[in-house]
Parts: sequence; C-alpha cells; structure tokens
Amino acid sequence: MESRHSIHHVLLLVLFGLSALCQCSATGVEANQTAVLLVNASEASARRIPDTLFGIFFEEINHAGAGGLWAELVNNRVLFYLSASFLETSGFEGGGPNVPSNIDPWSIIGDESKVIVSTDRSSCFDRNKIAVQVQVLCDHTGANICPDGGVGIYNPGFWGMNIEQGKSYKLVLYVRSEESVNVSVALTGSNGLQKLAAANIVAADVSSWTKVEILLEATGTDPNSRLELRSSKKGVIWFDQVSLMPTDTYKGHGFRKDLFGMLKDLKPAFIRFPGGCFVEGDWLRNAFRWKETIGQWEERPGHFGDVWNYWTDDGLGHFEFLQLAEDLDSLPVWVFNNGVSHHDQVDTSSILPFVQEILDGLEFARGDPTSTWGSIRAKMGHPEPFDLRYVAIGNEDCGKTQYRGNYLKFYTAIKDKYPDIKIISNCDGSTRPLDHPADLYDFHIYSSASSVFSNARHFDSAPRRGPKAFVSEYAVTGNDAGKGSLLAALGEAGFLIGVEKNSEAIEMASYAPLFVNDNDRRWNPDAIVFTSSQMYGTPSYWMQHFFKESNGATLLSSSLQANPSNSLIASAITWRNSLDNNDYLRIKVVNFGTTAVITKISLTGLGQNSLETLFGAVMTELTSNNVMDENSFREPNKVIPVKTQVEKVSDNMDVVLAPRSLNSIDFLLRKSINNNVDTASVLKSSC
Ligand SMILES: *[C@@H]1O[C@H](CO)[C@@H](O)[C@H](O)[C@H]1NC(C)=O
Ligand SMILES: *[C@@H]1O[C@H](CO)[C@@H](O)[C@H](O)[C@H]1NC(C)=O
Ligand SMILES: *[C@@H]1O[C@H](CO)[C@@H](O)[C@H](O)[C@H]1NC(C)=O
Repeated sequence: MESRHSIHHVLLLVLFGLSALCQCSATGVEANQTAVLLVNASEASARRIPDTLFGIFFEEINHAGAGGLWAELVNNRVLFYLSASFLETSGFEGGGPNVPSNIDPWSIIGDESKVIVSTDRSSCFDRNKIAVQVQVLCDHTGANICPDGGVGIYNPGFWGMNIEQGKSYKLVLYVRSEESVNVSVALTGSNGLQKLAAANIVAADVSSWTKVEILLEATGTDPNSRLELRSSKKGVIWFDQVSLMPTDTYKGHGFRKDLFGMLKDLKPAFIRFPGGCFVEGDWLRNAFRWKETIGQWEERPGHFGDVWNYWTDDGLGHFEFLQLAEDLDSLPVWVFNNGVSHHDQVDTSSILPFVQEILDGLEFARGDPTSTWGSIRAKMGHPEPFDLRYVAIGNEDCGKTQYRGNYLKFYTAIKDKYPDIKIISNCDGSTRPLDHPADLYDFHIYSSASSVFSNARHFDSAPRRGPKAFVSEYAVTGNDAGKGSLLAALGEAGFLIGVEKNSEAIEMASYAPLFVNDNDRRWNPDAIVFTSSQMYGTPSYWMQHFFKESNGATLLSSSLQANPSNSLIASAITWRNSLDNNDYLRIKVVNFGTTAVITKISLTGLGQNSLETLFGAVMTELTSNNVMDENSFREPNKVIPVKTQVEKVSDNMDVVLAPRSLNSIDFLLRKSINNNVDTASVLKSSC
C-alpha cells in the first residue's frame, strides 16, 4: 500500500462515495425489492476457479510480526530506538553499530545511587556489537544496601508480555562479569509486584560471555507482564541478546498459536510477504534485505522499518516466512526489493548485485541442501526445498524511473535459472497490455465502499489471455471503513464476487492489511485486531470466510435480474467439502442496498445431480442492525457470520436477503441413479 501520498486521494474517493450513496437512498423504493437469480449448473457452461484465487497478504505493518504473529516476548532483544530527529540504535542494538545505543523500551530498576545502566560495543556477536552494562553500586551488606529484590533492568515486551499460568517460557541470554554473579530473573505483573515465575542465575566464573538458558514455568496469569533481571550484589554485569519465547508456539516454529489459527481458518491458498512498502523502505538503506534475516537469531542485525516506523529484530525472517507458508499449506509469494525505495533508486546499470542477492534468495528457498544457500536452509532445519513458485518484483513501483530497466534484469535472470517461477509485475495490465513480459500483474484497490463494490465489474473487460491479475491488496478505506465496519466488508464481498466471476483473468487476490496490534495502529482498517492476549476478526476478516471454499471450485454460470440491479451481486459455485467428501452448490449474494430483497433462485442444468432435499440448505449471513457496526474486544462477535438451516429447498425457491447483507446458501448435491449406472458400466468395461 502507499503510505502517505494516498491519503488525499482516499479522502476524495470517500467524499465521492458518500454523495453517491445519498443519491441512492433519496430515490430508493421503500417496499421490498425482488430479484431473480438464474443459475445454470450445466457442466458445459461451468469453469474451474484457479486453486490459488484467495490467499492472504502479510506485511510487517502495525506490529503484525514483531509483537504479533512472531511470538518473541522481549521487545528489542538486541536493543534499538528512534529519536525525534532521526533514528538511533536502541535495544541492545537499534540504530546501527556506530550510533550510541539506547536501551528503550528496557527500563532501569533502582535509582542512580544504586545502579547505573549504559551500553557499549562489547558483545561477542559481530553483527550485534552492542551489549548493556549494569553497574550495581549497592550490595547486600555495607553502607549502600540494595533495595529488596535488588536492582537491574526490565523489559515490558510489546505493550506487556502475555504470561499464562501453567505455560512455560524459554529465556535465553548472554551474561558476562569479572566477578561471580547471582542474577534473579523473574516474570512479574506490570507493576513488578506479582511474581509469575522466577529463577536465579548463579555462576562463579562468567568472565567470558556465557549463554544461559532457563525454562520458566508460570504460576500465575497476567497479559501485561514484564521480564526482570536483578542483582543485590555489588559489581558490573553485562547482558546481551535477551530472548523470551513461549514454548507452545505453532509446531515450535515461533508463531503465536491463536493468531496463526485465525490465518489457518481462512484456508489461504497463498501468502504474499513481507510487504508492501516494508519491502521498499522510505530509503533503500532501511529496506528488508533477506540475507540479514537468516541464520541464528543472535547474528541477525535487525532493521528499522522506516515506512511504518518501528524496529524489527527480524526473528521473523526469510526462512520463517517460507516456513509460515508451509505451515499454512499455502504457496509462498515472495515480494523483493528491486533497487527502488520511496525516495531513492538504484540505477539499472548498477543493479546486478541486487539481482544476485535475489538469485541467492531463491537458491536458499529451493536449492539442493548441498548448494551454497540451500545448505544454510538445511542447517536451519529444513533440508527439503520450500515450494516457492511466485515472486513479485517490487511493490507499487511501476511509476518509478528505474523500474522497467531493473525489472527486466531480474526477470531475465530469474527465468534463466528458474523458468517455472511465475513473476509478478507492479504495472497494472487490466486496462492496457503490459510493455514487458510477466506472468501476473499487481492490482491494488483502496477506496470507498461503493467504489470497491462497483469495481466488481472492473475485470469484466480485462484480458483473458496473457498475464493474469494478482489483486494483491484490496480494502475499503476511509470513513466508510472506520476501524473495520460491516459496510467495508460488504463493499469488499461484492468486489470478490466480481473477482470470482472474472477468475479467467485473475489468478490471486488478498486483503490488506492482515493484522493490527491495537497499540500501534499505522493503518485502518485491518482484518485481525490483537493485543498481547486478545484478538478478534473485523467484518472484513469474516467476509473472507465466505470465499475460502472457492479455490479450485467450479464456477457456474449465473445471471441476476433485479430492479434496481446495481446493489446486488451474486455468484454460484460447486465445491467439494473435504470434511464429508460431499459436493455442495453454494450461492453467494451481497445485498448492498438498504431494503430487503426477495430473491427467487432458479436452478437449471443440474443434470446428473439433484438437490438433496432432506438436507435442506445452510444459509450463512453476515449483517447487522447498523451498517457502520464494528467488532471490538468488548463485542468481538457483534458482526460475524450466522448460520441458519433452510428446511425446504427446491430448484425454484425464494430467499429473503436482509438489507446490507452478505449471504451464502449451501445446497447438498446428490448423484442421481443414472450416474451410478454410468459408474458401474465404467467399472465393468475396465475388467
Ligand atoms: C418485506 O419483506 C419482509 C420479510 O419477508 C416482510 O416481513 C415485509 O412485510 C415485506 N414488506 C413489504 C412492504 O412487502
Ligand atoms: C445451460 O447451459 C448450457 C450450456 O451452455 C445450455 O446448453 C443450456 O441451454 C443452458 N440452460 C438454460 C436454461 O439456459
Ligand atoms: C542468590 O540471590 C537470592 C536472592 O535474590 C538468594 O535467595 C540466594 O540465596 C542467592 N544464591 C546464592 C548462591 O548466593
């Protein structure tokens, strides 16, 4: 997504959208509208929907990864900070190796008569030179007695660590001191009083850097906990690389289980990562560079994401993104920097090192375990190649002067080595042909609800041959959306029905952004809202559930006769339910208007199938009393899909569509006797 410049644009569209809505309701008819939906289920007019059509897009924005899906609890485990003027390193690392580092958000326990905390460049990790030095001035005896529990430092996590009773947490840190040490480590409630877990690091000789690993088991629960390191013994102690991970992440792969589950439930066919603008950077020096994000975490320098303004330690790196895709059973779509940021660009004549970096990244993902980069992947625990088939050259860079030149260098080099990899261009090919080779072209849409809804027809005229569309970012934004309204979800659902119907021209689509940590809203709205311990889906998240069975399903021909026709849109598919192995016919309809609509559904061409009338049908509805309703931590289920059983079904039946609603109706299909006869004869002839 574009970060700043797009705001005016969005506002204009919103104003325009609102005035359009007002006109509609002024001339709107009060009585119930009626409509007829004709569905022709005949195979001759059906078409297979791409297996990849609906997926997700993960960007490191809104603390989606750091302090989100990535379960690390220590914020700035290597130390980094952003000053008012420019960025300085903080954490034990932020700001880069040569800038005096700040320990933010670490804080000091004890006043300056008892303890002095500073940083220096004494770490044993070459790419993370900064360590924190804790000079304990007080003691357990003598004139300067330490306060109860001792003095030291604590880390508040990302707006509080969620510590839960009975769960265990793996603490890793590096320690050094000229004297023997007795450091008490503890997980405490936010005021430091309630102890949830504690241990002592007692060591006679830590004169050289010593790695300490402790499993902490929590005896209490607090979503706003912190990690404390304290001592009551006079002397100087250095700490470096402090990490605290819950042990029950998804498969032990480091993903926060509850948030991972929200993604898995969407059955995403693909996951595009790691951005977005995050990939570009405001400046190239702050762009995501995959080589800095692999190997052991202690050696990852981390970087400052200058578009969304926060530091990430890159614990969620290139390997982890590929692992995430695999764990979700989705295809990875790697977006890489093509030498173009928001403010600076690499000239095409100097782009070759960047191209080599990407070829290495592909070898890392797909190469043999004996290859240079494949062997590093194998060492990280994944000897099998990852199933990387899609890459995007840049994000929203089509208009940049160096884009085409750079693009062609990447394109040629990748196709040469990996001819099967599908390459995505940033240039929109939906209205005119691309002037360069590509397998797919990016299409982004952020607009008002009515504008997104009416863009369902945008791809009616898009080319059916040549590069396919990847709608890699879509969302209703602005006043229509707030922090995630029903209205936004309805606009998007209408758009996705259009995507489904035009899936000859579109191969993939994903909503943006996926996540927001409620403490760091850089962008509204988002699909999933969370804090350290809570989460909920916005209506746009639940809207996506209506489409998760469409990947690889069969699109039936359907037509809608309605008056007025511009506030309804519908599609029909047949899909196989992997849980019961049955085939279902699903109709989806958005009623974007403000009145109920009685819709006659007329099914023809069922052929060898018939409706299983005993089953009836299941109707799922997403609606609410007020179209601006949103979910919240207080009311997470205010706007969610509601299922009802339809008892009587026939191939010619009426359904009532509530005003402002998204509906799906699933009919169970049954093979008729004819078909059994066919199967039997086939079996016979094969004997
Ligand atoms: C509109 O439809 C609803 C639900 O079927 C019904 O209760 C109501 O009487 C209808 N109103 C009009 C004006 O037909
Ligand atoms: C359904 O589609 C098939 C194949 O295109 C066509 O032969 C048939 O006439 C259609 N049925 C109706 C009722 O339109
Ligand atoms: C370490 O310090 C704790 C107090 O924080 C104390 O209870 C414990 O006895 C000390 N252990 C040693 C070996 O000195």
